[in-house]
Amino acid sequence: MAFATYPSLKDRVVFITGGASGIGASFVTEFHAQGAKTAFVDLKPEDGEALMAKLGGKAWFKTCDVTDAAALQAAIGEAGQALGPVTVLINNVANDTRHKATELTPEDWRKNLAVNLDPVFIAATAVYPMMKAAGGGAIVNISSINALLGPAELAGYVAAKGAINSLSKTLAREWGVDRIRVNALSPGWVITPRQLELWLTPQAEADWMKLTALKDRIMPADIARTALFLASDDSKMITGQNIVVDGGRT
Ligand SMILES: NC(=O)c1ccc[n+]([C@@H]2O[C@H](COP(=O)([O-])OP(=O)(O)OC[C@H]3O[C@@H](n4cnc5c(N)ncnc54)[C@H](O)[C@@H]3O)[C@@H](O)[C@H]2O)c1
Repeated sequence: MAFATYPSLKDRVVFITGGASGIGASFVTEFHAQGAKTAFVDLKPEDGEALMAKLGGKAWFKTCDVTDAAALQAAIGEAGQALGPVTVLINNVANDTRHKATELTPEDWRKNLAVNLDPVFIAATAVYPMMKAAGGGAIVNISSINALLGPAELAGYVAAKGAINSLSKTLAREWGVDRIRVNALSPGWVITPRQLELWLTPQAEADWMKLTALKDRIMPADIARTALFLASDDSKMITGQNIVVDGGRT
């Protein structure tokens, strides 16, 4: 198979949250390969530094807990100072820890939204002035097909992902006049190291494959390539959408 190169992504400044591992690392790698000036933050410095080393140091990384709004805003500002105005934002961080709804305390619920929803809004509003001044930009908010399917024991995560879909739509309307596009990107089951470690059993995979149209595993790069398209000028009239990449599961 051969995949696209997007001339519009060359030298574009991209900021990715949770970029050190999983699908986030694929966003970082794929944007970097397109010649974009790629910045990412993550909670885990070792993973971030390891990815930086793989890229020959030619990206921008900072350790940052995105649940700390001031730290996230500061990191976006620093990346903008170092690389130029951020005109692509990939809101990727999430935590899909399972819990029964009845066992979730009000504090747990708040913590869930603090990691799965709040940083999406904080980062989007932090990049807005840079994108507006630059004449436009693209925000891709990573959602999930679980917002459409509503599986049990994921109340906080699913509620946050549903909110991300709606938030993407309202920001798209509010900021379209500034040529800022805002889309949600909803993966199906993507085979990351964490999924391999925690959830991927032969039975679970066979059950998934019965329900999908396409019978190949969805890999992080399949999601990243869709994000490249949504960030590039090739998708210049796509905004306010939820793009589903799930092999035909939903
Ligand atoms: N893997 C899947 O099957 C799947 C399916 C649907 C949607 N998604 C979505 O794709 C995105 C990426 O998922 P993934 O599977 O790669 O996740 P992951 O858990 O493997 O990776 C998440 C990354 O975010 C970082 N992170 C976590 N909390 C953070 C915080 N507070 N501050 C900064 N960094 C933090 C982690 O260190 C890690 O590098 C998420 O939005 C997830 O909801 C994934």
